[in-house]
Amino acid sequence: MSYNNIISKENNGITTITINRPKKLNALNRETIQELHEAFDEADNDKDTKVIIITGSGEKAFVAGADISEFADFDVNEGTSLAAKGQELLFNFVENLSTPVIAAVNGFALGGGLELAMSAHFRVASDNAKLGLPEVSLGVIPGYGGTQRLPQLVGKGRAMEMIMTAGMIDANQALSYGLVNHVTSLEELLPLCEKMATKISRNSTVAISAAIRAINANYKDGVDGYNVEVTEFGNCFGTDDFEEGTTAFLQKRKADFPGE
Ligand code: COA
Repeated sequence: MSYNNIISKENNGITTITINRPKKLNALNRETIQELHEAFDEADNDKDTKVIIITGSGEKAFVAGADISEFADFDVNEGTSLAAKGQELLFNFVENLSTPVIAAVNGFALGGGLELAMSAHFRVASDNAKLGLPEVSLGVIPGYGGTQRLPQLVGKGRAMEMIMTAGMIDANQALSYGLVNHVTSLEELLPLCEKMATKISRNSTVAISAAIRAINANYKDGVDGYNVEVTEFGNCFGTDDFEEGTTAFLQKRKADFPGE
């Protein structure tokens, strides 16, 4: 499928989705959010894709936020619907995808950009990255899940400070906060993410999807994550991947997972 604002390419089991509005620092306008939804959905349903990497084009920004020019004149109802639709189409959608998603944060990840990176299953940053939720400097708050996911990742106190100050932290501080898992040079960012993606892709995709559901259950109100784990664990025993994984181990060979 061809898009106006993003590029999506599959290679060796890895689909890399690149947000491609470098002149606007890859800001998320409505069309980009819709296209990202379609690209993530397509990659998630693609049998060849084992891991998705999301990144930004250029050397300056991952995503510098939601496109401010699109919502500057919104009223209360339009603002509410902007957040609700965005969460449904992209941010919650990515978090709950069956296919693992790695955010390769290659520069500014601000507002909706950091919120998108936080929706991914984990994050790797280049050493020029700057991360923050500056919304209160615009008289608004994060609306794409930032008030929920930032405290989950860095703790309540740090999230309060980041959101209240509207400041940016650099890649190494993000690493010390646990907001990103690794920091590397800009040149090494995609190669490192691809290396990790390749490692992930050797494992059972069915079990990985079950693990994503079980881990995410820990963050859902009214859901007992331990019960979800029991159910997901049990379901693994009915899969071809489980049969192949255990048989390969006992036969002292590498598993070749059918992905079912
Ligand atoms: N929405 C819309 N346009 C944006 C944008 C956003 N979130 N972030 C950057 N842009 C646009 C700028 O308006 C500018 O467009 P122009 O050349 O047509 O004027 C272009 O991207 C380049 O940005 P610029 O501000 O000139 O780059 P800079 O290097 O001086 O500053 C930032 C970089 C990231 C510090 C600055 O762009 C910024 O503060 N952006 C907004 C961040 C934000 O508040 N995000 C949260 C939104 S809820």
